[in-house]
This record gives sequence, C-alpha cells and structure tokens, in this order.
Amino acid sequence: MATLLFSGGTVVTADGSYRADVRVADGRIDSISTGEIGAGGAPADERVDCTGKLLLPGGVDVHTHLDSRMMGTVTADDFGTGTRAAACGGTTTIVDFALQVAGERLGDTVTRYHERADGRAAVDYGFHIAVTDLYDGALNDLPGIVDGGVTSVKVFMAYRGSLMVDDGELFDILRTSGRLGARVCVHAENGDVIDRMAADLVAQGKVGPKYHELSRPAATEVEAVHRAIRISRMADAPIYFVHLSTADSAAAVAAARAEEWPVSAETCTHYLTLGPELYDGPGFEAAKYVLTPPLRERAHRDALWKNLRTGGLGVVSSDHCPFCFSEQKELGRDDFRKIPNGGPGVEHRMSVVYGLGVHEGKLGIERFVDVTATTPAKSFGLFPRKGTIMVGGDADLVVLDPAGSTTISARTQNQNVDYALWEGHTVPGRIERVYSRGELVAKDGAFVGRAGHGRFQARATV
Ligand code: URP
Ligand code: ZN
Ligand code: ZN
Repeated sequence: MATLLFSGGTVVTADGSYRADVRVADGRIDSISTGEIGAGGAPADERVDCTGKLLLPGGVDVHTHLDSRMMGTVTADDFGTGTRAAACGGTTTIVDFALQVAGERLGDTVTRYHERADGRAAVDYGFHIAVTDLYDGALNDLPGIVDGGVTSVKVFMAYRGSLMVDDGELFDILRTSGRLGARVCVHAENGDVIDRMAADLVAQGKVGPKYHELSRPAATEVEAVHRAIRISRMADAPIYFVHLSTADSAAAVAAARAEEWPVSAETCTHYLTLGPELYDGPGFEAAKYVLTPPLRERAHRDALWKNLRTGGLGVVSSDHCPFCFSEQKELGRDDFRKIPNGGPGVEHRMSVVYGLGVHEGKLGIERFVDVTATTPAKSFGLFPRKGTIMVGGDADLVVLDPAGSTTISARTQNQNVDYALWEGHTVPGRIERVYSRGELVAKDGAFVGRAGHGRFQARATV
C-alpha cells in the first residue's frame, strides 16, 4: 500500500490545532511531524498538499438506519449507497441500528445485518442491536451479541405495538447491559401520550403532515428523558439518549452529568439548524420533515448549540433514516401517522455542522471535531482507532478547505433519496478529500472508493 504525506495543513483534534505533516503507511498514521512543516518530513510515495487546509479525523456517525424496514417500507439507502454518501460527506465510520423484527432472535438480527453490509460498505461500520421484542431468553442472548463486538443496545420508548419497550423492559435491558458494559441508547418520547394526541388530531380531521409536529410537543420528550434517567439510576447503568431536540431534555442530561451520573446524549444536525416553519410548506411538502422528534423552535436550537459547547450534549449524529418523498412519504398522504418517520443526512452532517456551527461562531473547530468524531468514537468503543489523529490510529482523514463552500441539493447528492433536508443551502467550508484507512474514498463530493472496502468494527465495551 502506498505511503502518503499530508503536508502543510493544520491538524485538528478535540484537544487542539497545530501545523504538522502527517505520514500514513499501511492504512495507519505512522508519524506526525511538527518540525519543518511542508518540507516533506519522512519520504512517502504520494504527497497531499494541505497548505491552507484543515486536516480532520474522519467523521464518526453513530446513528444511521440503512436498509431498515420501518413503518411498512424500507429506508432508501442500503449499505452500499448509504456508506458512499457518508464517505462523500467526510464520515468514515458509521454505527447503524440492527433492528430486530418481532419474533427474531437477537443473534439472527445481527447476522442479517452483517449479510447486508458485508461486501457492500464503502466505509467502516458497526452495529447497535435495536431490541423491539424482549422474548423469553433475549437477555441471555445479549452476552453473545456483545462478545461479537456489538456493544450497544437501542430501545424505543415510543411506537407502541411495533418498536416500543415498556418501563419494566427498559429496566431489564439497562440492568443486563450495564453489567455487560454495553451502552443503552434510548429513543425517549412518551409514546402512549403521543398516540393519544395524534388520534385526537386525526379525529378532528387534522391529518396533514404539519400535525406530526403538534402530536409530539416538547414535553413528550422531556418527560421520557427524566423517566429514563431515573430508571437508569435504579438499574445502576449508563444511559445515552439519541436525537434530543429540546432545551429541557438537554438541561436534564446536563444536570445528571453535573451529579456525575453516567448519562450522555446526542442531538442531530437537523435539530440544530432547521425550524418548524418547514411544517408550513405548501401541499404535502412538510412530509419531508416528518422525522421524530419533530423540528423545534429557535429557543430549543440555541439551547442545543449551547449544550454542545458546554458539554451537556457530546455528540452530533445524522439519524440518517431516508425515505423518498415520492411513493414512501406519500404512504401517509391521508394520515400523518402513516408517513414514514425519518430524513436523510449522513452526507451533510459534517458540512452543515462545520458551515453553520464553526463558521458562524457557534462551535469552536476543536469542539466540532469532538462532537462529530472523537466523543462518538469514545462513547461507542472505537477510540483511539477512530475519532482522532494520532500515531497508530486508522488513517481516516478529511481535508477541508475553510475558504471553500458547499451547496446542498438532491440533484448532486449521493444519498439515494429524492430530496435533501438542506436543499439549496450554501454553507461555508468544502470537504475536498476523504480517506478511509489511507485509501482515497471521496474527492470534491464524488465517490472514488469501492464497495466492500468498509470493514465491520468490533467495538470495545464501555
Ligand atoms: O424519525 C426518525 N428519527 N426515524 C428513525 C427512527 C428513530 O426514531 O430513530
Ligand atoms: Zn429514534
Ligand atoms: Zn434514528
């Protein structure tokens, strides 16, 4: 394998930024030289001129749903297209949800996802096991799952009748997972209250996509977050909240962390940058933004940015759960409850958080690296192989031009979906080159890697 020298750029890690030459051999970072910058350092087969550019660790996106059956359909990206899109957007590792179908043994779920990803993925990947049916013996199957490198468990507190676990099951899963060192990721919403609010709206003839938002007020998330934190305390287990969208949820997590409780959380790109006015779009347009929880008002977005700065929130993920507007979102034309919940974003997470976060002064560049790569890698047993730039780590690298810009459009994206959440936005910063274990996988937004390059990442326990 050719040796590479990334020369003359500014290396950014969660701990600091500095000028350095970075040498890559055999897919790993072999040396970092702060001596004569740009002078060449140790010899290499190929020199990548990074003058004026930022050299970042490849993004780690710990919340994607590829090739996943949900709400009567299947997400529009599989492990081939989804990981290509990830690569083009500067994400070199994903952790996807292996979603159990009712009646399926957890080991079989994981096997099914291995079969889907193996030979298709363009970047490295891992799985969370998403438990939706706690059959007799399921808890006894968890140690085998964890031994196989799937060291996190996802549960839903919403979607009764399909995905939801009750509080007793949540407690059981937390207690068992805590003992195994597996992190439990929780979708926190009060599903039963939401189902009743949604039914009331539909009974009043309020069936359009806009009512998705009204059926899931902030309190439905906040209540579930408080409840789950208390249940995790009783189970003596760490807990991680996915896709937090509200100020009060972030405050609850921050308060728990201040007590040194093992509580952590992510928000998503769209909760930071998009607002509920999108639900007022013409016709059925709002269905594009039917994702769960819904988009929130500016006060929530401001609080999420603040909590990312201060550490209440540690991760920005994409919750990439793509459904095409045509045919898939249209399943809910007559009833918003039938619109598949989710939106695309794995390709745009890094660009949008950089452009609208770092460039607009909401997030420092080191914190950007922290929340998009380092803390996700640390939280899910991938660090230090992934999530930073250090000698011995995988050479997952992004060359970003801070003077460039990125225009987002469904016409040019690699995601296999017919719309983009940030359609028409031009954001500062341009991801020029993306390397996965020393192989160039994307150049100027175009995929140049190969299916099957991506490897399953057996993750450490926490
Ligand atoms: O709307 C969303 N978030 N869909 C994906 C499933 C989930 O809840 O994460
Ligand atoms: Zn969720
Ligand atoms: Zn999700």
